[in-house]
Amino acid sequence: MIRLLYCSQAKSDFSEEVLKEILLISRKNNSAAGITGVLVHGGGMFMQVLEGPEQNVLRTYMKILDDKRHTDSRIIQISPMKERMFDNWTMGVIEAEPLTFEHVAKLRAHRLETLNADAFTQVIREFNALLIKT
Ligand SMILES: Cc1cc2nc3c(=O)[nH]c(=O)nc-3n(C[C@H](O)[C@H](O)[C@H](O)COP(=O)(O)O)c2cc1C
Repeated sequence: MIRLLYCSQAKSDFSEEVLKEILLISRKNNSAAGITGVLVHGGGMFMQVLEGPEQNVLRTYMKILDDKRHTDSRIIQISPMKERMFDNWTMGVIEAEPLTFEHVAKLRAHRLETLNADAFTQVIREFNALLIKT
């Protein structure tokens, strides 16, 4: 199993309606594909964690890459995983404060370097904690 984290920019005409559509199809497809994760939306950006069987996660990410509702998608990290962090979520959603995106921007700035695994885990844990609260 793998965990994939990417971020992207929402298109300027993005709306709550569009977000609802994405969540609806994601929950349906992801539960069939054994994928769990979270979609963070805020400040005109997305950040998404997809976790599950390698082939299914990669296949789903390829579909997401082609989606015209967002642009400039960049993988921040892909790593093997033993345990899911979002095991109750076929796709959770967080409306993030711009502050949260500072963390993402930091990770993104370092994406060509060897990513500090602790920093990565910390950001994901913060998101996970946010999810549990909401
Ligand atoms: C930011 C973003 C996140 C998405 N996340 C998922 C996802 O987790 N799972 C999924 O199946 N589709 C996701 N989609 C939708 C896909 O791009 C695509 O529209 C959908 O998978 C097509 O489903 P279909 O092959 O059943 O028609 C996402 C789209 C966007 C813009």
